[in-house]
Amino acid sequence: MTWFIAKEDLTFDTDLIKAAQMIKEGKTVIFPTETVYGLGANALDQDAALKIYKAKGRPSDNPLIVHITRYEQLDVLVARQTDQAKRLIHAFWPGPLTLVFEKNEAVPKGVTGGLDTVAIRMPAHPVAHALIEAAGVPVAAPSANLSGQPSPTRAQHVIRDMANRVDVIITDGDVFHGIESTVLDVTGDVPVILRPGSVTKEMIESLVGQVLVDPSLLVKLGQVAPKSPGMKYKHYAPLADVYVVEEGTPLETMATLKGRFQDQGKKVLMVVCGNPHESREDVLVFDDATSLGQSLFDVLRQADDKGYDVVLFRAVPLEGVGLAVMNRLIKAADHKIIKA
Ligand code: TXA
Ligand code: MG
Repeated sequence: MTWFIAKEDLTFDTDLIKAAQMIKEGKTVIFPTETVYGLGANALDQDAALKIYKAKGRPSDNPLIVHITRYEQLDVLVARQTDQAKRLIHAFWPGPLTLVFEKNEAVPKGVTGGLDTVAIRMPAHPVAHALIEAAGVPVAAPSANLSGQPSPTRAQHVIRDMANRVDVIITDGDVFHGIESTVLDVTGDVPVILRPGSVTKEMIESLVGQVLVDPSLLVKLGQVAPKSPGMKYKHYAPLADVYVVEEGTPLETMATLKGRFQDQGKKVLMVVCGNPHESREDVLVFDDATSLGQSLFDVLRQADDKGYDVVLFRAVPLEGVGLAVMNRLIKAADHKIIKA
């Protein structure tokens, strides 16, 4: 049985301390972060980490992110911190940036999917911070979705995916960013983005100069071996068939495409960014890539709930958060891109 704790509960603060104690004792606890909800367990306890994989139905070679609240915790977890890593930490922690370091022995290989590196982040969400701080141990936490589902960004997503699969679920409404943290490998001289997120390539570049993007991010899966094990799995796979329509395609052209699917008896949703004068009744319009990112996983889940067979997303430019949004969209679409 899962114990549910919600931010609006009168006993929230004392319940949070109890949940933190449960983490220390090897139990699994779902909690909100500023990116997506996470499914946490004691990162120094291999058996606890295994419970995470079981609850998610996740392949055990896909490493977990370790969440901390204090800079000193790095000394226990990490073998080496470059000056560059220190500058990134200073600029972006707490926040949606995960750094991949060479690991220390203290980190069980069951947490890192057998790798000699460990991914670490310091979340900014007050509930995540309070929980991890009270647990007094680093907390391994992947996104709290069932493997293959979009990451959870609202309380109802975690309750639906994870009720009775974990010991505790802590909810605090909708998350802030809606897409998972940027994963940056800082083990070499030049940092490499393994997964784009809200801390953008441009933001990292302006701090440290050259930044590489893992070539497997935007090309067809399988053509380039991904360095981040999680990137090789099909993610964010809704039941509906998702298509990315080329950037700049006019809405009328998209509507023609929609018509073709409708002729095959399919229910179609169109999603675009920008251009308020383009509004039509049958299209979801977001202001920009950031606001699309915040709602993207919810849109995908709702498309299934409402029985859409096809979702047409218009591509956004590959700059700023747009890179992260396009990375998730292309995965959701399983690389089906329409050049209209
Ligand atoms: O925003 C987030 O990062 C959320 C919240 C809960 O913090 N967590 C999250 O975790 O998205 P997860 O497990 O769903 O994604 C972690 C990603 C995966 O693609 C994984 O392969 C990669 O980080 N990763 C973890 N450790 C790694 C390592 N040592 N080397 C390379 N990639 C790693
Ligand atoms: Mg995930």
